[in-house]
Amino acid sequence: MIFDAIAGLFSHDLAIDLGTANTLVYVRDKGLVCSEPSVVAVTEDSAGRGERVIAVGHEAKEMLGRTPGAIRAIRPIKDGVIADFEITEAMLKYFLRRAHNRAKLVRPRTVICVPPCITSVEKRAVRESALSAGAREVYLIEEPMAAAIGAGLDVTAPTGNMVVDIGGGTTDVAVISLSGIVASRSIRTGGDTMDEAIINYVKRKYNMLVGERTAEEIKITIGMASPEGKNESMEIKGRDLVAGIPKVVVATSDEIREALVEPIHAIVETVHLTLEKTPPELAADIVDRGIMLVGGGSLLRDFDHVLRQETKLPILRSDDPFTAVVHGAGEALNNMSLLKDVAIH
Ligand SMILES: Nc1ncnc2c1ncn2[C@@H]1O[C@H](COP(=O)(O)OP(=O)(O)OP(=O)(O)O)[C@@H](O)[C@H]1O
Ligand SMILES: [Mg+2]
Repeated sequence: MIFDAIAGLFSHDLAIDLGTANTLVYVRDKGLVCSEPSVVAVTEDSAGRGERVIAVGHEAKEMLGRTPGAIRAIRPIKDGVIADFEITEAMLKYFLRRAHNRAKLVRPRTVICVPPCITSVEKRAVRESALSAGAREVYLIEEPMAAAIGAGLDVTAPTGNMVVDIGGGTTDVAVISLSGIVASRSIRTGGDTMDEAIINYVKRKYNMLVGERTAEEIKITIGMASPEGKNESMEIKGRDLVAGIPKVVVATSDEIREALVEPIHAIVETVHLTLEKTPPELAADIVDRGIMLVGGGSLLRDFDHVLRQETKLPILRSDDPFTAVVHGAGEALNNMSLLKDVAIH
């Protein structure tokens, strides 16, 4: 099972956000002990004993798309769910080892953030594997709920709050009131989809192939969501599809905006559809309080501006979009009555 290899590491209270792009671990009294890309590099063992992990996290991400034959850089979480259990286990083991301290608790509490669309079978699998690894009390919190707490919203109040979490794999939109999710919608469109859209655009327009790391860099450096934004440019390097040799072209923000039209439209549409399902009293609250944006993908330049134009609602940004989920889970770890209220069963 997934948490088997990390038995014994659950010796203190901790909260985990296992994301498609990044994994974060919060340990009680210590704070954030790990914030690393969810990437693992493995190599074929020369003695033929299967695969051996050679790098994890930042180091492994550097290797994406640059590995020679025997080495593979793997992203074990796809679209917000665990796609490769063994590799995820190896990754968590590595991250949690560093979080290990000597003070062992008898009944450590563990909070695990899960996607809002998780099935009851998946819930049971996550819970049971954590328990079998030595966690004594396991609580599951839905990511948008954790994000709302982390972003400083009062989730227990009888007031509607909307959270939009644009992650690497998915975008989750949720309306929260009285410690529960009242309306929500998730789509498999997020930062990764934007990177793919950039790869396809560059292929079509310049007959050039760029890797996913380069696509992400382009998105972060010159990507934007609104046509009203400042048009910047950057040199991008890749392989010419016709001549087969490396080439350099100059791309502009305006081009990248064009490349991102579809994923951005899908995200905005999801917000609209969730608003349509929101009970009127809570919708009225959202008019006053606005929409809270979290997740790394929400950092796309001018995305907040586009969402404001499209919804006519106030748009707020959390102070740190990457850590809102894990910090919210950590806050619940420190506040038992809040944890009991927001945990799902
Ligand atoms: N400045 C930026 N502009 C646009 N996108 C960005 C920026 N910085 C990071 N990102 C994107 O944010 C995404 C990662 O966000 P985050 O860490 O919230 O995802 P995650 O929690 O791992 O994924 P998920 O919640 O879907 O499982 C990546 O796709 C990354 O490229
Ligand atoms: Mg996330």
